[in-house]
Amino acid sequence: MMNGALGAMVVESDPYMPHPEECSADSTLSVVVVGASGDLARKKIFPALFALFYEGMLVENFQIFGYARSKMDDEAFRDTIVETLTCRIDAGEDCGKKMDTFLSRCFYQQGQYDDATDFQRLDARLSVMEGSLCSNRMFYLSIPPKVFISAAANAADQCASRTGWNRCVVEKPFGHDSASSLELSQALGKHLQEDQIYRIDHYLGKELIENLTVLRFSNLIFEPLWSRKYIRNVQVIFSEDYGTEGRGGYFDEYGIIRDVIQNHLLQIVALFAMEPPVSLEAEDIRNEKVKVLRSMKPVEMEDVILGQYTKRVSKAHTYPGYLDDDTVPQNSITPTFAAVAMFINNARWDGVPFLLKAGKALNKRGAEIRVQFRHVPGHLYRSKFGADPDAATNELVIRIQPDEAMYLKINSKVPGLGLRIENSRLDLPFHEERDRELPDAYERLLLDVVNGDKRLFIRSDELEAAWDLFTPVLHKIEELQAQPELYPYGSRGPVGAHYLGAKYNVRWG
Ligand code: NDP
Ligand code: BG6
Repeated sequence: MMNGALGAMVVESDPYMPHPEECSADSTLSVVVVGASGDLARKKIFPALFALFYEGMLVENFQIFGYARSKMDDEAFRDTIVETLTCRIDAGEDCGKKMDTFLSRCFYQQGQYDDATDFQRLDARLSVMEGSLCSNRMFYLSIPPKVFISAAANAADQCASRTGWNRCVVEKPFGHDSASSLELSQALGKHLQEDQIYRIDHYLGKELIENLTVLRFSNLIFEPLWSRKYIRNVQVIFSEDYGTEGRGGYFDEYGIIRDVIQNHLLQIVALFAMEPPVSLEAEDIRNEKVKVLRSMKPVEMEDVILGQYTKRVSKAHTYPGYLDDDTVPQNSITPTFAAVAMFINNARWDGVPFLLKAGKALNKRGAEIRVQFRHVPGHLYRSKFGADPDAATNELVIRIQPDEAMYLKINSKVPGLGLRIENSRLDLPFHEERDRELPDAYERLLLDVVNGDKRLFIRSDELEAAWDLFTPVLHKIEELQAQPELYPYGSRGPVGAHYLGAKYNVRWG
């Protein structure tokens, strides 16, 4: 709600962040990173803003403000962010000069998240810098959930531009179940209109995830096969070869299902399985995602495997277990690994298992989608593949990271005399012949916010549908105090995941 001298410029009856017309000509952009002293801001947000500046994607007149409680002046703030800016794009050019220019546009405002006066001070500084230009403001809330609402309210009520657009980027976690998520949406809704809220899921900004819809809808050869008729199962696999290092406190309250599966992996499933949208407009795409999420069956307890990593001692190194993290309670049963089977009750996907697996401290780092096709009916060449029928099936692999790639496993004849058949790959590597690194997900997503493109952001009804799929089982897990299966740091995870796969005739890729 509006109060204070600066807020008085917005009519009292309007409970929302001002929503003026877009700036028509010359404008200025102010980006405020709330929680600027934090891990995410330093690791991802400032480097992404620098990359956008470097690529000439920001308007001529822009300023970036870090906002947090830590005591710092502008110079000290610049010293903290300069360490994470990289010249990874066109390393040959003089990047140092651009970095200096970028840093000269970065400022810091110290303040509390729940103090209206502190936000008014920020607003005053922004107004001076923006001068008489029409100003657009982006607020990035990179703070823990407990200070979310107060910061969003103060940004909206004390610090919004009255001349250009105001957009607010909100980081996960968006609640911890259906009820808390709804509460959060309602609280945000008191200060921001839905079209001003950009709920970020950085997996949607990854190159191969954007490519998923291009693959499906711009090639004739895939879409006809994209259904229960030809696809036997779909796997979405996320693994990290390190533990919760440094984030154990946050993680223990959420666990791997809330941290990765309910959002990142489920978003992938939605894009993978949705019907073709009417257009590429954000609302059309998000309508299809909501539809497919609402067609899914809430996850059942018997379709979930939970795991937690333990210490592993090798000759060279001791890898700490989850419970060795000082920020994790000694008796924690929070899962650091989970595998779940999900089903979509619609005509396209009825009966096809979607297996989702995510884990920390596993044997490798990676994220991929694996699509296993059905066996060839009346397979003429079956005898050439030995006893294993799966050896002959086609598989499409979309490797999201690292080393982005897409390949299709097909059978072909080994060149030469005789008739030997081998499984080979039709391969589409993403790095060869490209001399530039792919942009980081945060670069793409921040640019989308600047451009007002909401295709890759989560709408409130999408979020609600996603939570509805997991809330019952998450509550059940808590009610039963379900014990995770232990697995050693650096292993392939709990064996239970293989039984879950076997239950649905799926061999994990
Ligand atoms: P941090 O824990 O680093 O917190 C960010 C800043 O918030 C801190 O620098 C601190 O700034 C302030 N803060 C921390 N704890 C409190 C508290 N208890 N009360 C008030 N202020 C506090 O978070 P991250 O940067 O890791 O993450 C920010 C947001 O992004 C979170 O919502 C997180 O869940 C989400 N996220 C993070 C990811 C990551 O990789 N880090 C990935 C995906 C999402 P100060 O003390 O200076 O005010
Ligand atoms: C975050 C999770 O959303 O995604 C982290 O909170 C996880 O636990 C991270 O490590 C993985 O992101 P990426 O881009 O490194 O795969």
